[in-house]
Parts: sequence; structure tokens; C-alpha cells
Amino acid sequence: MANKTVFPKDFLWGAATASYQIEGAWDKHGKGESTWDRFTHTPGKIKNNDNGDVANDHYRLWKKDIGLMKKLGLKAYRFSIAWPRILPTGSGKVNQKGIDFYSRLVDGLLDANITPFATLFHWDLPQTLEDEGGWAVRSTTDAFVEYTDAITRALGDRVKHWATLNELSVVAWLGYEMGVHAPGLKDIKLSVRAAHHLLLAHGLAVPVIRRNSPDAEVGTVLNIGWKVPASKSTMDMDSARIDDGRWFRWFADPVYGRGYPADMVEHFSSLGALPNGMDFVQEGDMKVIAAPTDFVGLNYYGRNLHRVDAPDNDPQIDFPFPKTPEHWTEMDWENYPDGLTGSLARVYFDYQPRKIYITENGASYSTPPDEKGNVLDVHRTNYLKTHFAAAHRAMQAGVPLAGYFVWSLMDNFEWSFGYGQRFGIVWVNFETQERILKDSAKWYKTVIKKNGF
Ligand code: FCB
Repeated sequence: MANKTVFPKDFLWGAATASYQIEGAWDKHGKGESTWDRFTHTPGKIKNNDNGDVANDHYRLWKKDIGLMKKLGLKAYRFSIAWPRILPTGSGKVNQKGIDFYSRLVDGLLDANITPFATLFHWDLPQTLEDEGGWAVRSTTDAFVEYTDAITRALGDRVKHWATLNELSVVAWLGYEMGVHAPGLKDIKLSVRAAHHLLLAHGLAVPVIRRNSPDAEVGTVLNIGWKVPASKSTMDMDSARIDDGRWFRWFADPVYGRGYPADMVEHFSSLGALPNGMDFVQEGDMKVIAAPTDFVGLNYYGRNLHRVDAPDNDPQIDFPFPKTPEHWTEMDWENYPDGLTGSLARVYFDYQPRKIYITENGASYSTPPDEKGNVLDVHRTNYLKTHFAAAHRAMQAGVPLAGYFVWSLMDNFEWSFGYGQRFGIVWVNFETQERILKDSAKWYKTVIKKNGF
């Protein structure tokens, strides 16, 4: 019999969502337009032209959703706050109805004994700010501070876990360089500016949160992948290094006080991204960005293999697994749990964060309910089980992992993929808003209850 995998007593088992992906009510109760509203309402941007106008109707059904969390026995819930609900035009007038919504949600969670874990920015920027240049301009960081102040003043007495921004690299590169996320721009020069202002917004927000929410844990959420060169050739190695540099080090290094990684400054220069050098970095910025934090949240989804010039038949090459559902999810992302162990160990030993949370990990499989209404999503259960075990191995090696948020609590609007990709452990029928616990959710419930498996 396999050994039991047991987690520490106070391990924070959770699930995560994000405002735009579940709330709906995009123009209700004074909410301002967000960049994602604008982007999804532009034909041709999203698969099927899906949008988040209604999504999971969570803005109305939040009590029912807390009921689901209770049923699962979740210890914590990671959600994000929609900035345009709080400050409809980004700064200036506060919308009390928006604050009230999150205030009730937080009270509901606390009543259910579920720790609220709030993210301030999970991509839905007020469109008015985007019209003024969005993250590519510095003034957006002042607006972010104003918003942070308003919402943490309101909730800071009850929310004791704050993440500033979610996956800064995805906002900068997918939003401003590749154009596949809102605001849909394709300008590498703007994207490096956006990256800097996202980092600065994080750094400026940390002391504001600390002031308004005494004793809270504050950190940010970075995405990390396991980047592997397919061979020892310089081209393969460089490709993997640059991929890691772009998506992880460009953000983690400044947050941990190391400044921007020199090899990547050179890389961005060579791409013409820095025609005037790093002119957007002002005196003192790097110190602000390096404000001490209490944790780093990591979102991990898999491995990226870099094969630029390695021959296909080289026996040295670390082939990925065959593309069966066991090894590949429907996002076409590889299921590679060892990369989670490696990533956790690397981040801990390299950057020495005080604490780590896995703020997202999960898999897209579209398995629908059968005739009896059961969702037999065996591949998701297998994905979660192998990743929980991988995280546990990292903890045994000394990594201070304090919690694990499964992405996602329920199927939802998956950005440019629309509703076609289902990451939930709860099935959602988007016509009727019925929710069904998938088998993975039932299994997760037993894990939480036994604190292991
Ligand atoms: C992450 C996002 C999250 C979700 C997952 C699948 O990059 O933070 O909102 O879409 O990917």
C-alpha cells in the first residue's frame, strides 16, 4: 500500500476564481466598464465571441456558491475584486454598492469558516484608465494605490490575506505585446513599460495594505512554468532561459530586490523593446518594488520543452509524454507534476520567500455529466492527486508551502478561450446556472477532511 500523504495541520486547502471569469453583472449597480468588457464585446477577439456579461452569475448567486464551498469543506477561498465595481472610472468616485457586494461576500465566507484570500487585480482594469494609456503609463499606478486604499479600508478588518496582482507577466505580454488578452495591443515597447508599472503598482500597494489591514499577509501572484531545454545545445538552452526570464525572472527578480535580470534587459534591447533604454524606471522605483512581502503565490500549470535545433531522434532529449488525456489537458498543456516540485524548490531556495501558496493549479477537461448527473472527471482527479503529491515532496525538502488553491472552484469564462475550456471541480450549466460537484470535487472533499490522501 502506498504511503499516506499527510499535510500540516493548518494547511490552507482552497479553490480560486477571478471576478471577470465568474461574476457577470458587468454593468450592474454602478460598475464601470473594464478592459475585458470592451475586449470581449469586440467581435473576433474571443473564441465563439463569448463574453463575461453573465458568466456564472456569481454576483447574484454568491450565497449558493459559498454553499458549495461549505459542502467541499474548503478552508480558504481565493477570489478577486473587480476594480471597476469599486471605482467605476478607475479613480475618483467610490461606488458603495461595489464595496457592499464584496463586504457581504467576505462576511458570508467568515460565517462559513472559510478564510477569504483576496486578489486586488486579476486583469479587469477600468476602461477609462486604459483610454489614458492603461498599464503602459505611470499614472495607472497612482490610480491603483487609490483603489487599493479604498477597498482595503473597507475590508481590511476582515480580510487577512491580500495578493496585489495576478500574473503580471500575462497582463504585460499577452495584453500589450501579443494582443490576445485585453487591451489587445501588439507593441513590445509598451509591454515592457506595462510590466514595470505593474511591478510598481504592486510595490506601492504593499504599505497601503499593511496600513489598512493590520496583521494581514501581503504578497503577489506569479505564474511559473517548468522550462526545459530539449538538449544541451546553446539554442535550446537559450530558448528555455529566455522563456523563464520573460515569464518569471523579469518579475520575481525585482520583487525580491535583485532588479531586472541583465540577460533579459539585453534580450529586450535586441528585440527593439527599449529604444530609450530603461527610461521608464525612475529613481527609487526598484526599492519600492522590492517592498518586503509575506508570501509569494505561484500559479503552476505545466512544463514547456524548448526544442529549437535539437534533432528529433536525439536519445538525450527529454521527450514529453504522449498526448493522451492522462498526460495532456484540453488546453494542450502538459500534465507534469514533477515540474511543480522543481518550481517550488527553485523559488524557495533561490528567492527565500517567507511563505509560498500555490494560488492556482488545475486542469481543463470538458467531461460532461452522465445520464445520472455524475461527472466522472477521472483525469482531473489524477491531475490533482499527482500535483498534491508533488507539492508534498517539495515540503518534505523544506519548502514552506502554506496552502493550495485549486483552479478553479467552478467552470467559468476562460479568457480568450471563452466557455470552451472547463477548469472547474464543479460543473456549471451556463444555460440554467445549475452547479454539480464533479467527482474530483468529491475526492478533494475527502482530501481536505483527512488533510491528505
Ligand atoms: C491563469 C489565470 C486564471 C486561469 C488559469 C487557467 O493564467 O490566472 O485566471 O485562467 O490561468
